[in-house]
Amino acid sequence: MIENWFSVPIWYFYDQNFGDDQEIKMIEFFNEYQKNDNAGQNRSNVNGYQSGDISNSEPAQYIDSFLQKEVLPELVTCINITKVSINSMWFNENGPGGLNRNHVHPQTDLSGVFYVSTPEDCGNIVFYNPLTVSVMSRCNREENVHYTPERGKFVIFPSWLYHSVRPNKGNGFRRSIAFNLTVS
Ligand SMILES: [Fe+2]
Repeated sequence: MIENWFSVPIWYFYDQNFGDDQEIKMIEFFNEYQKNDNAGQNRSNVNGYQSGDISNSEPAQYIDSFLQKEVLPELVTCINITKVSINSMWFNENGPGGLNRNHVHPQTDLSGVFYVSTPEDCGNIVFYNPLTVSVMSRCNREENVHYTPERGKFVIFPSWLYHSVRPNKGNGFRRSIAFNLTVS
């Protein structure tokens, strides 16, 4: 007999319909936004741009519609919830060398990222094993797991889970939209 306890869910999804046209439209939105907010915010960013809240924008409508249609049914299966809503959202643009320091998202249930532009080797998102003492063991001793950014991919995780983004070693911009979710 075996029972595994304290596992941590990380969900991922692909929007197969998110192609060149959709990427270009989002980049236009990002560029327009930055004209009015050149400095942006600084949450976890190093050598890059993070916007203020965009949870009332057109990209937010797109993300919300995907969440309700594709993501919510999977969350119901996993943690017995019936409702998911966006409580904050921002976008990230990281050029060569851009990264995000190790952090968590406070005062929210789930967090996620959607990838808009993903040049080759643009920096994985890394999740850290929250059972820190388990690295002392010969079993289940993974220190971290990596997810590779791909255009049209969503990665969703518990907000308390520590994560970072590796430096962009590619040539272009890694662009993503990050969001926090309340579930009930
Ligand atoms: Fe984050």
